[in-house]
Amino acid sequence: MDKIRIKGGIPLKGKVVLSGAKNAALPIMSAALLTDGWSTLSNLPTLRDIQTEKKLLSFLGASFEEKPEATLRINSSKIDRFEAPYDLVKTMRASILVLGPLVARFGRAKVSLPGGCAIGARPINLHLSGLELMGARIDLKHGYVEAKAKKLKGAEIVFDIPTHTGTENLMMAACLAKGKTIIGNAAKEPEVVDLANFLTAMGANIEGAGTDIITIQGVAHLHPADYRIMPDRIEAATYMVAAGITGGEITLDGYDGSCLETVVVKLREAGLEFSQKKKDLTVHGPRKIKSVSLTTQPYPGFPTDMQAQFMALMSLGQETSVIKETIFENRFMHVSELRRMGANIQVSGNQAVVKGVSRLLGAPVMATDLRASASLVLAGLAADGITEISRVYHLDRGYEGLEKKLLPLGARIERIKESA
Ligand code: EPZ
Repeated sequence: MDKIRIKGGIPLKGKVVLSGAKNAALPIMSAALLTDGWSTLSNLPTLRDIQTEKKLLSFLGASFEEKPEATLRINSSKIDRFEAPYDLVKTMRASILVLGPLVARFGRAKVSLPGGCAIGARPINLHLSGLELMGARIDLKHGYVEAKAKKLKGAEIVFDIPTHTGTENLMMAACLAKGKTIIGNAAKEPEVVDLANFLTAMGANIEGAGTDIITIQGVAHLHPADYRIMPDRIEAATYMVAAGITGGEITLDGYDGSCLETVVVKLREAGLEFSQKKKDLTVHGPRKIKSVSLTTQPYPGFPTDMQAQFMALMSLGQETSVIKETIFENRFMHVSELRRMGANIQVSGNQAVVKGVSRLLGAPVMATDLRASASLVLAGLAADGITEISRVYHLDRGYEGLEKKLLPLGARIERIKESA
């Protein structure tokens, strides 16, 4: 397993080009299962999770054409398997996103239950109850979900919790159902809207994506489409924090801060400054970081996927910040590692009290999940001395070429191949 070594203390300066959004690319690739023929997806990020999704789709029978410039063509004309096996699903929970498309187009699917992960139990009950309302028969056997339906029918579904991938799974299923589906208390994340835009380009009839109520009028079939994946807003916010925590100045190429309004508000409160020139957004880190409290919420609230990164920033705050995590039950795995670097953080339940310290000290630390690993990189960039982060495969799941993008900004960062 590779490690990343960082010598911290350098204010980062320069321009970063964002990659396509992982959490838009994964459902959009799954949506290609809904039709035959070639769909062309551009601005796809080069990530482990994208590779896993490709492996899963080709296991099902899809074929691919790799094109230059982060472009991939997908053809689902010859799908001849309807099972997502455990050894693939266990490496990536988002594999569950093939469930809706397979049942909608082929009337059957057998998908391994994703199981929990480091940050929580991650149940999929809302995905399954929605499919049942649409007429699917759901059996849970030997760790697999087996779903069968002659023909899905439109239904009125109201989520107890605005589940992000649950909304995406059922929106995809509803596109080919007979009749109208209404999804109430739907997730409003921008990635859900990106998926809806792709489905619409395929001929789907969807209204209200990005709001609490999504209405889908089923159609007889969909056709392939070409689509450019939206930029990764969580990657963008992570680089904003990199500017803030190192007191540097980072320009996000071609990004206008959209879909990150709440994050920008909180970062401004922490003392970061933002200037938009033409299409580029420049983030200026402060000399002194102000302590800011926040609670994670579904979009448009402060995203849980930025909680760990923001906590790294608050570790160097002037006073005390209270960070509340309301989405996942175990998303403070980065706390013990930040503490090893000198952070002063006390956790009780879903609340972390971060008492700012004057400096962090480099240390050997271990990544536990995707966003926790990003938080450790950020802390390492600001810390005095050397930080070595192990298990960086977590990082590679969601950040394309992180060290390659940080090096031109002046970071002293290198990847150490574990075998070395
Ligand atoms: C998506 O996960 C993202 N993953 C996560 O990003 C993100 O953290 C999360 O949404 C919240 O925004 C992808 O898009 C691939 P949820 P998802 O269903 O859909 C509960 C990252 O770092 N719930 O919105 O799995 C659940 O336990 C990853 O990129 C149920 O109870 O999240 C959680 O407490 C991590 N029953 C809450 O809802 C269900 O059937 C929100 O989960 C579904 C969810």
